[in-house]
Amino acid sequence: MKEKEVFIDLLVNLIDGNLEKKQIEKMVEVPKYSYLGDFSFPCFQLAKIYRKSPQLIAQDFATRLHSSLFEKIEAIGGYLNIFLNKQEVTSRVIKEILTKKEHYGGLKIGKNQVITIDFSSPNIAKPFSMGHLRSTVIGNALSLISEKCGYQVVRINHLGDWGTQFGKLMVAYKMWGDDELIKKNPIKELLKLYIKFHDEEESNPLLSNKARDWFKKLEDGDEVATQLWQWFREESLKEFSKIYQLLGVEFDSYNGEAFYNDKMERVVQLLDQKGLLKESDGAHVVDLENMPPCLIKKSNGTTLYATRDLAAAFYRQETYQFSKALYVVGNEQSLHFQQLFQVLSKMGFNWQKGMVHIPFGMMLKDGKKMSTRKGKVVLLETVLLEAIGLAKKGIEERNPSLKNKDEVAIQVGTGAIIFHDLAHHRLHDIEFSLEDMLRFEGETGPYIQYTHARASSLLRKGNFIIHDQEVALIDEEAWTIVVLVNSFSDIINRSLEAYDPSLIAKYLIDLSKSFNKYYATVRILDHLEKRQSRLSIVFAVKTILNEGLRLLGMKAPEEM
Ligand code: ARG
Repeated sequence: MKEKEVFIDLLVNLIDGNLEKKQIEKMVEVPKYSYLGDFSFPCFQLAKIYRKSPQLIAQDFATRLHSSLFEKIEAIGGYLNIFLNKQEVTSRVIKEILTKKEHYGGLKIGKNQVITIDFSSPNIAKPFSMGHLRSTVIGNALSLISEKCGYQVVRINHLGDWGTQFGKLMVAYKMWGDDELIKKNPIKELLKLYIKFHDEEESNPLLSNKARDWFKKLEDGDEVATQLWQWFREESLKEFSKIYQLLGVEFDSYNGEAFYNDKMERVVQLLDQKGLLKESDGAHVVDLENMPPCLIKKSNGTTLYATRDLAAAFYRQETYQFSKALYVVGNEQSLHFQQLFQVLSKMGFNWQKGMVHIPFGMMLKDGKKMSTRKGKVVLLETVLLEAIGLAKKGIEERNPSLKNKDEVAIQVGTGAIIFHDLAHHRLHDIEFSLEDMLRFEGETGPYIQYTHARASSLLRKGNFIIHDQEVALIDEEAWTIVVLVNSFSDIINRSLEAYDPSLIAKYLIDLSKSFNKYYATVRILDHLEKRQSRLSIVFAVKTILNEGLRLLGMKAPEEM
């Protein structure tokens, strides 16, 4: 935000080396109440240095600070309070957004840098869980936010396409599988087999051994096992694609765990060369500080999840030269990633420092974890389709003559689910409730989409055209909107730094609320001579709601 930077620069000059710029930046506050100004600077820390009371310092500064951007400067209780010149700021901010349009708020922090984002990453032949939905939604938003900040983003779907679950499925398929049924309805049937296997396994432990044997066959390249594996993988991917399509999510790479089958030996050798590999009960491990050792190879020679992730890290560094690598994975895997990062750092690879685990909490239903295993499955596609159905019903009631009803229903239905997820800080557990998500009032996705549609309709009705005239602040009520518009890039910046899309979600709620208040108090279209100025504010709101929703992975319908 330009005004804040101006203020900080002026302070840096005044304080003349007695405090570092970084410190000053941290000290500048936004007062809780608007009668205390738009920014303030506490002078308490300077009292010792200047041997003067904070209030006297503030008074002295107040007489020496000058900028056309400031309307008034006050010294109150040891604080230096700055009141922005609303006309100047409004004119600058609105001019900028009228020129830059959807590019407004973009940053260059990530210029010429690659960030890989490992997200979604469901397991083949297992249902797409709520945890995977969270990873998909959060990872997609972080990808879009990173791009907005100038990074080149590589979206990676690290599919769980290898592992003992294939052994289980093959056993189940051989025992109870029906080709006809599977071909008709692959995921449902495979899921049934998977659940049946787990039910039967409880009373018949022999099944576990059989599953292990089948997985061994697969690892040894047995033809029948390999063909089944491929078939299961393809069918699952088809099913996952439907979900990605509904959510509007795309990936640059679907290299899953199996992709690293022939890339692990090298890693194991490297660990050995560096003297990090230790034998423990026939298995190979790397000892770590402050955490359990990382298991690299089991006693029977098979590699593990961690080994694959090590190989994947090397592959990604070599292929993309990432400066940052994010892993959007539930917090139950925190230890795994701590181990992974420490192994790499022990190997002496500096690029490891750019790797970050982005954990998140659970999705709950009636306060309990939503499980995919024991029959209590909630199929994600069903949930999405239900949300879309409800959204459609809403449209039929509100706006039966809408032209592209089905398209809008998808945008609103999926948007509701996405927003509900992203509006909470990712580490919080969230309660799954379709009714809550789809509400039009309150802090929901549809509320923001609806506000966007309202703004769009005003612009259409008022025949707004983008112009390069000065925009004045006509209504005091528009000032909160201008302040929010002005802070958009700060919000984007902070949400990237904290890997926290909820900052953007909350910001969009604030902007929508301010706009709806404005809409309720000011007759925007009534006065011809004020109309274009007022509509410029509306345009700014519409542009930011649209762009903000896009950054969360949502669409903003023009009408709904
Ligand atoms: N497939 C894993 C799971 O569902 C998530 C993989 C996350 N990515 C990774 N590189 N380990 O638990």
